[in-house]
Amino acid sequence: MLPSAHRQVLVTGGGRRLGAAICEAFAQAGWRVWCQYRASKDEALALCERLRAEGGTARAVEADITTEAGRRALMAEVTAVAPLDAVVNNASAFEPDSAQDFAADAAGRQLGVNLIAPLDFARLLAAQPQPAGTAPADRCALHILDQKVYNLNPDYFTYTVSKLALERAVALQAQALAPSARVCGVSPGILYASGPQTGDNFSLAARANLMRRPIDPADVARSCVFLAETASVTGSTLSVDNGQHLVPLPRDIMFVVDELLAGTAPSTPAP
Ligand SMILES: NC(=O)c1ccc[n+]([C@@H]2O[C@H](COP(=O)([O-])OP(=O)(O)OC[C@H]3O[C@@H](n4cnc5c(N)ncnc54)[C@H](OP(=O)(O)O)[C@@H]3O)[C@@H](O)[C@H]2O)c1
Repeated sequence: MLPSAHRQVLVTGGGRRLGAAICEAFAQAGWRVWCQYRASKDEALALCERLRAEGGTARAVEADITTEAGRRALMAEVTAVAPLDAVVNNASAFEPDSAQDFAADAAGRQLGVNLIAPLDFARLLAAQPQPAGTAPADRCALHILDQKVYNLNPDYFTYTVSKLALERAVALQAQALAPSARVCGVSPGILYASGPQTGDNFSLAARANLMRRPIDPADVARSCVFLAETASVTGSTLSVDNGQHLVPLPRDIMFVVDELLAGTAPSTPAP
């Protein structure tokens, strides 16, 4: 395996929140980081400037990862510098819908970002040519999942379906893309407030796990670096969620916090 200083990683949706933590962890581990953004240009540029000031190598790159042409153009830009060693499929859309009311076109767009783009980036990573006479490169695609896939409830229906399919695809793609690339999953629990969630709601929800404490996004990011640098692991998913997937809830955590407060939510530890 190349030393980390010679390896490069692409992080989708890398400008803010978990994506930014992942960019930071790889940069601190010595990787060259490509931070893909769509809307978060200012955040991505500022993040990469900070990482460079701290001695890392990081570049922000705007790309549309929702189209095949956009993904191919991004891969061409990145691999023009050097082969890509890892991709972290972090970008995702989290839109409220239900099994009863989902709109097919909106669901298709969400599946495009959350499922098709990660599958495509993994195969593009694996399809890079191996320079003749060189040792096989260790390449790794990482799919960011969600503890929801082990702990079903019907809220955020299309999002959940997309992550369920991606979770199953970890093993499937590991089989299909070997030995050209490894494929692993990282499955976080709740990390940040999303959608309509208030700060108060989030601070309670963040503790509704076995350890009764918030999950540190840096732990999720370090897990990505660990998997990218550990050549013997493929087809596996690491849960980084303080055991949240072992705390069943009837609805998305943000909708049962009030019941948690009132002590009426079933199968729920005290927050
Ligand atoms: N947040 C949590 O508590 C939590 C819990 C479990 C799992 N996860 C998983 O962890 C990952 C990161 O979570 P996060 O909350 O940090 O993510 P996020 O803020 O919801 O989204 C990350 C980035 O994805 C890009 N993105 C969103 N919708 C897009 C679309 N329709 N087309 C193209 N790009 C789009 C955006 O990039 P731009 O801003 O540049 O447009 C956005 O900043 C996700 O895969 C998520 O499913 C998160």
